[in-house]
Amino acid sequence: MCGIIGAIQKKGEVAPFIHQALKRLEYRGYDSVGVTTIADNELYMKKDKGKIDQVHKKLDLDDLPGSTGIGHTRWATHGIPSMLNSHPHFDCSNEIAVVHNGVIDNFMELRRELKKKGHQFESETDTEVIPHMIEDYMKNGYSLEEAVKEVALIIEGTYAVVAMCTKEPGKIVVTRDGNPLVIGKKENAVYVSSDIPAFLPMTDNMVLLLDGEIAVLTVDDIEIEKLSDGERVDRDAIKISWTADQAQKSGYPHFMLKEIHEQPDAIRNTLRLRDEEIEKAAKMIDNAERVFLLAMGTSGHAALAGRHMFASLGGVLATSELASDFADTVYDTITKSDLVVAITQSGETTDTITAVKSARQQGAKVLAITNVVGSSITRIADHTLITQAGPEIGVAATKTFMVQLTSLAQIALKLGEISGKPGTDELEKKRESLHGLPDIVSRVIATEEEHARQIAGLFYDSPSMLFLGRGISMATAFEGALKLKEIAYNHAEGYSAGESKHGPIALVQDGFPVFFVAPRDDTRSRIIGNIMEMKARGASIISVIEEGDDELLELSDHSFAIPKGVEPEFTTMAYVVPLQLVSYYMATRKGYDPDKPRNLAKSVTVL
Ligand code: AGP
Ligand code: GLU
Repeated sequence: MCGIIGAIQKKGEVAPFIHQALKRLEYRGYDSVGVTTIADNELYMKKDKGKIDQVHKKLDLDDLPGSTGIGHTRWATHGIPSMLNSHPHFDCSNEIAVVHNGVIDNFMELRRELKKKGHQFESETDTEVIPHMIEDYMKNGYSLEEAVKEVALIIEGTYAVVAMCTKEPGKIVVTRDGNPLVIGKKENAVYVSSDIPAFLPMTDNMVLLLDGEIAVLTVDDIEIEKLSDGERVDRDAIKISWTADQAQKSGYPHFMLKEIHEQPDAIRNTLRLRDEEIEKAAKMIDNAERVFLLAMGTSGHAALAGRHMFASLGGVLATSELASDFADTVYDTITKSDLVVAITQSGETTDTITAVKSARQQGAKVLAITNVVGSSITRIADHTLITQAGPEIGVAATKTFMVQLTSLAQIALKLGEISGKPGTDELEKKRESLHGLPDIVSRVIATEEEHARQIAGLFYDSPSMLFLGRGISMATAFEGALKLKEIAYNHAEGYSAGESKHGPIALVQDGFPVFFVAPRDDTRSRIIGNIMEMKARGASIISVIEEGDDELLELSDHSFAIPKGVEPEFTTMAYVVPLQLVSYYMATRKGYDPDKPRNLAKSVTVL
């Protein structure tokens, strides 16, 4: 993980821009921060552990001379968060500066060799071998570009690397393998970053850099080459449709709350995906012998819901697997008749990418659902659906979950069309319900937000809670519990309501909070049974129910009401919203920053 930024301006000091860009990247990692610039053939550096604002207060990150610079927000993998382990890292003579995202697997042996040659190391990071290796090559007459090329061929692992050197001021050399880097260009300036919002206020012109490529950036030119054979790559710039404003908070106190409120639009925009794209995806599923939905975390909950939608609407049995465990479970049985469907909002989750790559090696086809154009998964997949949530900055996924569910629902409807089983009228009713969801989600936010704040106030100090559901509502319950754990740090367990009496019920005593996701679907009568069991042991019941369901209203101590008209296959999209809001308000009630939960990062690029 981590956020990288590099920038060259024709004139003016670059440090204030780098500082602001890092703030826009802070969601990617925030245990330390650093900036280095070049002026008068010297490196100027400020770095320390801590969040950007704290470090800026102490060091003034804007006060560095020069119009070429690089910056980094770190999410430590090798070495504790500390000043010395913060990036950028340098060579022995402080002429070369490097920032890195990822992990260098063979760093120990490289470090040993470099130490033998007399190199002095300051940090415990894997990254620091890179500037020292570049130093060696440059001492032997290599240019910065040639040196980075050589280094890229030797280092193993995953990386996005950005390097500069005082001997070649006004130039930044970048390369990547397995971690993201995008280039931004405008007249008189060039940028490179882990993510688009970093430079979006300056330019909406983006040039993609792919794995195994190296780019040399100067203020007037971007030269891209393939590392394998030195072949020159001519790639046109793409216009980014995201506005800078979309990447800001728009007046909300936190990105997460803003993103919860953006969900109706996110669904609406995703429903506009071209029918041919959906049809291609559905045909891949229809043609496959077996279908595996692979994902992690919240995307894994979308996969669980997707499994249910595919079965119920399309008559297709798909299994949903944790990508991290795929290689250890079903991998050996994968053949070329199978399809894996990778669901990953960032498109960069290493667990998911690794599982997909291994399935590919066995000959399986790959369908991807992601929110990020040009992300790593898009280059591995045979076909990709790009969901339309826009940038999600809050580390806890909300609107990207919603659009994953939307596109899975679209595929499920198409599978129903292909199989012809649900019948035209039935399918039309389902389609209408899906298209009605943006309005329903808006209404849920409008009517239930204040209520969610009150419930959060009642239960925020409960050390443990259960979230229960049946059928597709298990996915909803799991997601409710995950959100709560992630941002409010209360222990919460998402469980099948059916399974709850086989163990977790032992936790329940007077006042123990149990959330029930209980739409009016086929599971309702059995859910009532589970509510009774919990009530009998003194649990406080907080339910998410359909508007007008008086019976469940009466059984509950507190409840959230969801408008009528949500078909059973799409309930997750509406019923999860009050749970997202409860987590948000519990986190803020406890004084936590929901956008930057401890120990988590937006895209997890380690196994
Ligand atoms: C979601 O709130 C979490 N931050 C996390 O579980 C996330 O869903 C998971 O890491 C997968 O991310 P992806 O969708 O980018 O692959
Ligand atoms: N492995 C590097 C480190 O621990 C980079 C981590 C990151 O991607 O932030 O410093």
